Amino acid sequence: MDYKKIIANKIKENLEVTVDLEVIENSIEIPPKSDMGDYAFPCFILSKTLRKAPNKIAEELSPKIDKEGFERVENLGPYLNFFVDKEVFSENTLEKIQNEKDEYGASRAGEGKNITIDFSSPNIAKPFHVGHLFSTAIGNSLYKILSFEGYNCIGINHLGDWGTQFGKLISAYKRWCDKDTLTKEPIKELLRIYVKFHAEAEKDPTLEDEGRMYFKKLEDGEEEEVALWKKFRELSLKEFDIVYKLLNVKFDAYTGESFYNDKMDAVVEEIEKKGILTSSNGAKVVMLEDYNMPPCIIRKSDGATIYATRDLAAAEYRKKTYDFYKSIYVVGSDQKLHFKQLFKTLELMGHDWAKDCKHVSFGMVRFADRKLSTRKGEVIFLDEVLSEAMEKTLEIINVKNPELKNKEEVSKVVGVGSIVFAYLKNNREKDIVFDWKEMLSFEGETGPYVQYTYARGKSILRKLGVSQGKIDYSKLNTTEDFELIKLLEGFQGSIFSAIDKLEPSILTRHIIEIAKAFNKFYNSNRISTEADEKVKNARLKLTEATTQVIKNGLKLLGIGVVEEM
Ligand code: ARG
Repeated sequence: MDYKKIIANKIKENLEVTVDLEVIENSIEIPPKSDMGDYAFPCFILSKTLRKAPNKIAEELSPKIDKEGFERVENLGPYLNFFVDKEVFSENTLEKIQNEKDEYGASRAGEGKNITIDFSSPNIAKPFHVGHLFSTAIGNSLYKILSFEGYNCIGINHLGDWGTQFGKLISAYKRWCDKDTLTKEPIKELLRIYVKFHAEAEKDPTLEDEGRMYFKKLEDGEEEEVALWKKFRELSLKEFDIVYKLLNVKFDAYTGESFYNDKMDAVVEEIEKKGILTSSNGAKVVMLEDYNMPPCIIRKSDGATIYATRDLAAAEYRKKTYDFYKSIYVVGSDQKLHFKQLFKTLELMGHDWAKDCKHVSFGMVRFADRKLSTRKGEVIFLDEVLSEAMEKTLEIINVKNPELKNKEEVSKVVGVGSIVFAYLKNNREKDIVFDWKEMLSFEGETGPYVQYTYARGKSILRKLGVSQGKIDYSKLNTTEDFELIKLLEGFQGSIFSAIDKLEPSILTRHIIEIAKAFNKFYNSNRISTEADEKVKNARLKLTEATTQVIKNGLKLLGIGVVEEM
């Protein structure tokens, strides 16, 4: 049952002129308060075509509308307000959830469309930091959301595994690396020697030359250097993998920057053929001044290609390999200019699909209780953050529910979930200040709050049993019942808006609203002490449906649920 469509049809059949059904349907709103109806149609969108004042249109249409499936239809100012027949609405919604279960909210809207999602993409030999986790959380969630709606997603980890820094690293490795530490804590050791390299190079600039020499050897494919680079890459990936396992994140391709080494000459040639390659101080660039941007550097004066060149090659490769409908890049907002230059250059190269490339950017991340300087090598190690979240959650559980079984597992799901949730809660462009106390709280708009709401619902069902037989939906007649049911019905709508704006927080907010509405429903309509069996049965049904939708929603955010906590 798609109420917006039904309403749009009811309006359309009463119009003397033809108006697109879709136009009507898309303009239907859900009023903030139920006393203004469950759905509202703003008549001003018709006033031009009908040459009438919107109030007048609403007044004339209101008595003509076929009322089937609705309690009443009223005109209020320029609006036509529809009040659904609550019993029918409740039945349709809850039965649908019951039938579709884990698939409730899914569709085939994206069938046949490929979407590449470039996300996470950390740098080899550097820590996986809180910013990469932001990308990982958003990318993973978009992957799940889009797949749920039938799109065919390709998750790509565009590893930062090439560049002059590897020459420096090889030099630092030969001079100062502690092999034991390298096996135990590879990234920490690689970071330590990399930082040392920079400190030493300030005193002795010849070190920079040495680094360049090693990078040249690496580029020329010399055995020793290539072997070392491979070793750094493998050690790093192994460590990243621990994080990915904890987060339950998977990729379809690990095609990092190095993958494009043999694909770049062709791109540079192509740009040259298009006549847009210009020399500038010895470097080769694409001028973008007409678009108010600095030039996009293709080759540096020493002939080396850079980040942007590799991204051009990657974009072409993705189009050729996956024939994408959309190509998404989940990368911090500090790279806005890079992507604008990239997409503009692709356009100037004559690729009309440049318009299908989207930079999904996000804000900065800070910790409330820490100040850091990356230049001094002070970084937050993500695995430490995740461990801390799990430990802190365990402490809370030990206080709140010390008897709980498999506490470790619960702490993992809840602890890791709390972090992912904090990332996906607000508009992604907004900066985040991490505050442990707030994130791990069982109250407020947090992961643990939503997970706790789920577990609470499940515990009610364990105690009282699930609903039985045919439900009398007229018994779900309180405001709290209906507000909750309406949110459950709107679940898929929020997924579609999240897709439209590539913004998982729209879904997160919807799940928070569901959790709040459930707690309101639960607190004002006691279930266990309810004497009327029919009422009790209907409320159990609503509880089942709510837990199902919360579970589906959290899963799309990449967050798990626990049956008890
Ligand atoms: N490795 C880069 C970084 O850490 C992110 C790469 C994003 N993806 C891309 N295709 N440029 O900043």
